[in-house]
Amino acid sequence: MRRIRLGVNIDHVATVRNARRTFEPDPVHAAVIADLAGADQITLHVREDRRHVNERDLKLIKELIHSRVNLEMAVTDEMIGIAKEVKPHQVTLVPEKREEVTTEGGLDVIGNREKVERAVKELKGAGITVNVFIDPDEEQIKAAAEVGADAVELHTGAYAEAFARNDEEDVEKELERLKRAAKAAKEVGLKVYAGHGLTYKNVKRVAEIPEIEELNIGHSIVANAILLGMKEAVEKMIKLING
Ligand code: PXP
Repeated sequence: MRRIRLGVNIDHVATVRNARRTFEPDPVHAAVIADLAGADQITLHVREDRRHVNERDLKLIKELIHSRVNLEMAVTDEMIGIAKEVKPHQVTLVPEKREEVTTEGGLDVIGNREKVERAVKELKGAGITVNVFIDPDEEQIKAAAEVGADAVELHTGAYAEAFARNDEEDVEKELERLKRAAKAAKEVGLKVYAGHGLTYKNVKRVAEIPEIEELNIGHSIVANAILLGMKEAVEKMIKLING
């Protein structure tokens, strides 16, 4: 049976750490636990403003993780330098806007063709697999193949939003877009991944798309880790207080 790789994005463990400017919870610990639990990959997005994970997290995760490390990054000279130094197994090129809460849309490979092509060449030259995060759009897929990317990660955000609105018509429309895009990507020789906004409830139908080899999921896993661990954490504190 086909097995889909799960990349666990640990960014929001760092979001909680950074809210207190302290050392816990450490995203490196989260990565190790996710690795031990069977994650196929640890995914992290080092942003220009370092709002969650930073270089220290990336370097330690690369050192400690026995599965793959997937670095999401903007197409900038600074980030290309960091990637070439740390050498994650895979880089995912993403668009990045300072004011956004999360990555809003896919990378515009067509509009940034030269810059993306140069980055892909440099990263692949350093032995790193290159994935580009794009909207499920056939023109962007063609451009991704032309600039030499190894894989595309299809943005599932619009599907996830339709699912959250219980808009069945839009759910089906967005799934069709994802299916068509996955087929088109495979046809031009790209590996096909997907991610963004995937949850325990909406993941199944994306996982059923036959071309998809990897899913990267963050927010929902971190949210569930907090809630599922809450009972144990409270009981432990009560025991410590009361003996
Ligand atoms: N894939 C990419 C390229 C992303 O930028 C993100 C968000 O950092 C994810 C997957 C994971 O999205 P979510 O946190 O909504 O699961």
